[in-house]
Amino acid sequence: MKNFLTGPTMVSEDVLSKLSIPVFGHHTREFKSLAEFLKRSLASIFDTDDPVFPFTCTVSAALEAALNNIVSDGVLVLSNGAFGERWAFAASQSDLKVYHLNFNWGMPFDPQSISQMIETNRPDTLVMVHGETSTGMLNPIAPIANILKDFPDILLVVDAVGTLGGVPLSMRDDRVDVLVGASQKCLALPPGIVPVGVSRRTFERCVKSRRQGYAFNFTLWHERWQNDETIATPAIPQMNAMAFQLQRILDDGLEKRWKRHSAMLELMKEWIGKNGFAWFAPQDLLLPTVSCIIPDGRRETIPIADRMRERGYLIDAGYGKLKNASLRIGHLGDWDVQDLEECLKTLSDVL
Ligand SMILES: Cc1ncc(COP(=O)(O)O)c(C=O)c1O
Repeated sequence: MKNFLTGPTMVSEDVLSKLSIPVFGHHTREFKSLAEFLKRSLASIFDTDDPVFPFTCTVSAALEAALNNIVSDGVLVLSNGAFGERWAFAASQSDLKVYHLNFNWGMPFDPQSISQMIETNRPDTLVMVHGETSTGMLNPIAPIANILKDFPDILLVVDAVGTLGGVPLSMRDDRVDVLVGASQKCLALPPGIVPVGVSRRTFERCVKSRRQGYAFNFTLWHERWQNDETIATPAIPQMNAMAFQLQRILDDGLEKRWKRHSAMLELMKEWIGKNGFAWFAPQDLLLPTVSCIIPDGRRETIPIADRMRERGYLIDAGYGKLKNASLRIGHLGDWDVQDLEECLKTLSDVL
């Protein structure tokens, strides 16, 4: 079965083989050298001098942990799709003060409303999703970081789950304080490890929090991770596979990877024009890693995904309120233009 889901995506055989090493402990020399390599290579992928922690968990757990580590006066969550909405919901399940700017799905964020909301409520943290995979939309970070120049005390938390490794992204240049990535998307690794980059000034904020807890405590992690140690037993086989794949990605060059993802988006553009589909997201904000497309005539999409499965392809029939009304194709990770061409040829046949 060829996995063109939006994630977890296809993982190559040689990466999978790195999961089946004899397990060693996290207090060993072997682990220290693995941790040291991960520390350096994750910093290169995130383009940062700040620490990047490889948490063993889901993305939801890591994002929630970020909020618990840093928010004290209130958090502003921007949403224009399912994952932004999830972070507003997650924040609301605690005693945090939550301000939610809930734009329609697929609508770009409006800078004026954001500034107004900040002026009125003075949150100390802002959360946004860079690649909204429910709608196939890219939310550029620069305009939001620009607004925050007028509010320098606000920390910027970015869900880069759908973009890290597939789309140009720099924790340093984009002025991101907490960057939450994922293993199972553009890095083409199994799920289970969530790399989280944390800026130096974020640690100063952590001191004020009463909710840091233990397992994802940024301060404790920082103390140990700088010595290539962790505060609890991590997913060592997954970390081993991650080291192997990151080495390959960095040897190949990140820019080449970004270009390959853009080339797959170009192919999608050509294909949809000829096959009776429309984009859900605005044309100038399409996500190079995930396409969310709407069939004309309000056709149901679950039967299309089912027919694709019969022919050996996994694609997604829509998420949340777009379920059975859209197709989502994940052209990310280690897939290439030729692989996507074959998938789309099969999809044309099915249609
Ligand atoms: C953009 C984005 N954010 C967050 C998540 C949630 O990840 P998890 O299921 O690991 O909590 C996903 C999952 O697909 C996603 O695409």
